[in-house]
Amino acid sequence: MAIREVITVGHPTLRQVAEPVKRLDAEVRTLIADMVETMHAYNGVGLAAVQVNVPLRIIVVEVPASEEIPGSGQLYVMLNPVIVRRSREKEADMEGCLSVPGYIGEVERARRIIVRGLDEHGKRYELDVEGYVARVFQHEIDHLDGILYTDRLTSLEKLYPVKQGDEEAAELEHAQSGAAKNGQ
Ligand code: NI
Repeated sequence: MAIREVITVGHPTLRQVAEPVKRLDAEVRTLIADMVETMHAYNGVGLAAVQVNVPLRIIVVEVPASEEIPGSGQLYVMLNPVIVRRSREKEADMEGCLSVPGYIGEVERARRIIVRGLDEHGKRYELDVEGYVARVFQHEIDHLDGILYTDRLTSLEKLYPVKQGDEEAAELEHAQSGAAKNGQ
């Protein structure tokens, strides 16, 4: 396993539409292991293969365990993910991205989604996720279509500078405080 370099805005791979995974071979297995290691090393909550410069439809998601966040504390690996259902209800909240260093911004996303794809063994599975975890899935799946969260800002003014390296931490903090507020 190895930590791979995360590419940032301006790199053409981030704007490519990624290809579906057709064979789960040794190369893809190594890529998945490296993506998980890279996400952890960068303290990210999700990563798409395009961000390590491999235009394949693979995402990993892992939100640190928090009582306020349903579906947190679990690693999800999904190949060829497809959102099969989105709630009509939407939520605006903060997002950061390892490929957009130094910023967080407000994006509106479906509050709940059903997403379908393959696990790391090639087995089909489906997830019903909501809130912050659903947000991370939507963000990562956007990457596979060459879309960055900055394309979806609720307003151009809703992009805020943060200390470089703090993007996902700031986002997570926001998600936790937001969820806590809703729970009151
Ligand atoms: Ni991202």
